Amino acid sequence: MALLKVYNLSVFWLLCMILVASNFCNGGITNSFVRKEYSLDMPLDSDVFQVPPGYNAPQQVHITQGDTDGRGVIISWITPDEPGSNTVIYWSENSKHKNRAEGIFVRYKFFNYTSGYIHHCTIKKLEYNTKYIYEIGIGNTTRQFRFMTPPRAGPDVPYTFGLIGDLGQTHDSNVTLTRYESNPKKGQTVLFLGDLSYSNDYPFHDNSRWDTWGRFIERNAAFQPWIWTVGNHELDFAPELEETTPFKPYTHRYYVPYASSDSTSPLWYSIKRASAYIIVLSSYSAYGKSTPQYKWLRDELPKVDRSETPWLIVLMHCPIYNSNAHHYMEGETMRVVFESWFVKYKVDAVFAGHVHSYERSKRISNIAYNIVNGKCTPVNDQSAPVYITIGDGGNHDGPAIGMVEPQPNFSAYREASFGHGIFDIKNRTHAYFSWHRNQDGYAIEADSFWFHNRYWNPFGKSFVASY
Ligand SMILES: *[C@@H]1O[C@H](CO)[C@@H](O)[C@H](O)[C@H]1NC(C)=O
Ligand SMILES: *[C@@H]1O[C@H](CO)[C@@H](O)[C@H](O)[C@H]1NC(C)=O
Ligand SMILES: *[C@@H]1O[C@H](CO)[C@@H](O)[C@H](O)[C@H]1NC(C)=O
Ligand SMILES: *[C@@H]1O[C@H](CO)[C@@H](O)[C@H](O)[C@H]1NC(C)=O
Ligand SMILES: *[C@@H]1O[C@H](CO)[C@@H](O)[C@H](O)[C@H]1NC(C)=O
Ligand SMILES: [Fe+2]
Repeated sequence: MALLKVYNLSVFWLLCMILVASNFCNGGITNSFVRKEYSLDMPLDSDVFQVPPGYNAPQQVHITQGDTDGRGVIISWITPDEPGSNTVIYWSENSKHKNRAEGIFVRYKFFNYTSGYIHHCTIKKLEYNTKYIYEIGIGNTTRQFRFMTPPRAGPDVPYTFGLIGDLGQTHDSNVTLTRYESNPKKGQTVLFLGDLSYSNDYPFHDNSRWDTWGRFIERNAAFQPWIWTVGNHELDFAPELEETTPFKPYTHRYYVPYASSDSTSPLWYSIKRASAYIIVLSSYSAYGKSTPQYKWLRDELPKVDRSETPWLIVLMHCPIYNSNAHHYMEGETMRVVFESWFVKYKVDAVFAGHVHSYERSKRISNIAYNIVNGKCTPVNDQSAPVYITIGDGGNHDGPAIGMVEPQPNFSAYREASFGHGIFDIKNRTHAYFSWHRNQDGYAIEADSFWFHNRYWNPFGKSFVASY
């Protein structure tokens, strides 16, 4: 049965390709794969939402990078009934010596919801490329997890990132996470492109949906770091509930190492991990000239040393190149402010979410316009990044199906399916990107692209190839 399905699917896909090819519009592909419109939430009594057994047991455990270089990890968890312990006990797999680190806990109120005790503990100066085991909780409710630190930053260090956006907590969300976990490419760290729990869509921004979401992702996020980007669903700006502090639940629950990259806000920051330099931006914070985010990025880009970290990757929630009718042109203001920097500093890839669909651009830029010269069309530009939208994690808003027609010539491939991406760095010149739609078998690549590094030119000085 499953085989038959896959077979039908590939025939269908082939037909689509032929159809598209015969209707060739500037070389872009629109795959018209059709799927059901809305995804249903997993019921509250689902296995993925279960509270771990034991009094005050730590739950919603998740980790992220805790410093600039990858030797630090922030471990976060929630105890529901009382503060419990802030201590993390950890040891490397090869050592019997147990270390202790002390964290803190925070709480917040949102309308009539009061959070549990949200613990954050940063552990630092770990060995590179080492498996660590960690234990949290006290008494008979301790829980153990493990993670692997990344290799030391270096130009030819292979590393595999997963890409997930707009996840939510529907049955499709669970399929996306399962597909990512089962992908034979074995992502080592998730780059999360914003819109986490969608709690704000429930009555009174029901913050208990932040808790169910935290329990849902624990099975992956407690074992490998998720690098967080903020989305519009994290704003939780609700004057009607007298809640006017933007990002309140998100910033209490998801700590990031912003201070170590000289950022003044958890909403934008950078990290180095293996051979990648990752810059996280906020689509929902000011970025015009003279704003904190603008100044930070201006000072940040010249710091990137491509001989240490060849791959320069930018994450944001709202895409700045998008030919889906949903959120069309929403990224335009950020494009005007930041695009020329992306080209100047030869950013390799810009990953975004927000649009519940998948899209990959060609290498294009639109930076020649100066109000009077009329040059306001995207043109081919080999110094420009490839823009990829992966906002198709499976949230309850349903997929974004309407497309702008005809397909603009900046768009190389687009499709309104749920899925996840893998960015697989091989060495300083080559990285392989693949996008995996949920309906397919685990190893199938619905779209793929060989990234050739913008700084380390694999073809020598005479480099003119189109990719
Ligand atoms: C979610 O996916 C996991 C892993 O495939 C599975 O064990 C679990 O039963 C699923 N839960 C729901 C509610 O779909
Ligand atoms: C340990 O857990 C069990 C079952 O959850 C409970 O009955 C018992 O009281 C707990 N013991 C302590 C010392 O907390
Ligand atoms: C919060 O208020 C809403 C509306 O009155 C109610 O339905 C809900 O049960 C309340 N939740 C809590 C945790 O008190
Ligand atoms: C897209 O089409 C416009 C108008 O035909 C053209 O000016 C522009 O150079 C094209 N851009 C690319 C990237 O091909
Ligand atoms: C880099 O990786 C690519 C793809 O795996 C490979 O073809 C190429 O030979 C590698 N370059 C070097 C210098 O090893
Ligand atoms: Fe969004």
